[in-house]
Amino acid sequence: MAIELVGVTKDFTTPRRRHARALDDVFLQVVEASAVALMGPSGSGKSTLLHLVGGLDRPTEGQVLVDGRDVGALKGRALADHRRSVGFVFQRFNLIASLTVLDNVLAPTIGGGDARAARRRALDLLEVVGLAACAGVTPDALSGGEQQRVALARALVNSPRFLLADEPTGALDTATGFEVVDLIGGLREAFGTTVLLATHDYAVAARCERIVTLRDGRIASDRTLGAPAEPRTTAERLGALRPFTD
Ligand SMILES: Nc1ncnc2c1ncn2[C@@H]1O[C@H](COP(=O)(O)OP(=O)(O)O)[C@@H](O)[C@H]1O
Ligand SMILES: [Mg+2]
Repeated sequence: MAIELVGVTKDFTTPRRRHARALDDVFLQVVEASAVALMGPSGSGKSTLLHLVGGLDRPTEGQVLVDGRDVGALKGRALADHRRSVGFVFQRFNLIASLTVLDNVLAPTIGGGDARAARRRALDLLEVVGLAACAGVTPDALSGGEQQRVALARALVNSPRFLLADEPTGALDTATGFEVVDLIGGLREAFGTTVLLATHDYAVAARCERIVTLRDGRIASDRTLGAPAEPRTTAERLGALRPFTD
């Protein structure tokens, strides 16, 4: 199992010392290379769940297993390696304004391995997201949708096995949001990336093959849909891309 939550509870203590239970005894299994949408109202625990899987936070109780490894128990180098195996995309694109598009995509590769190979990968990914011509500009020259495509390339530059997307279309108009989510679907098909995507938008969620709905930190429903819509244009673009080797 790629991702498995076993009885996961997460409590936060707020500044006023009130306890908030963000996740409440959650059990979830996510199959390798699948795409799962997390839905549910604001405050239902979607972001918390993504953070736990990404190793950005630890559960209060229970286990978060990624490839069978207990993420909550990882420390030091093992935790850093885990975080590198995960690509994150957020609602806000969080690009660095002073860096070019290419250097933004390269940022997660700094300090790791072969710089030339990383550059080649970054350029390949910019090609895939349709922004190769923008490699040398700064993000302020791009539209919101384009910036999110850069953020997606950045999230994938270390060839992560997992892509965690937290309302990646939340700041985009509908058509641009679909472009981004179809791109995520295409990248998953090309690279076998396992995708967890939090969204408020049912139409976006329906592009995944399974929708898990959270309510008050618990799983309220878990539905498997038919095959996801074919992201054709993306698949065509991806056809030209060589597989990553690390
Ligand atoms: N760092 C934090 N400190 C205190 N409470 C938090 C923190 N992060 C999340 N929470 C609380 O946990 C619950 C779930 O939040 P979150 O996972 O962000 O939900 P969602 O992403 O579905 O909107 C909410 O009640 C929220 O207020
Ligand atoms: Mg959230």
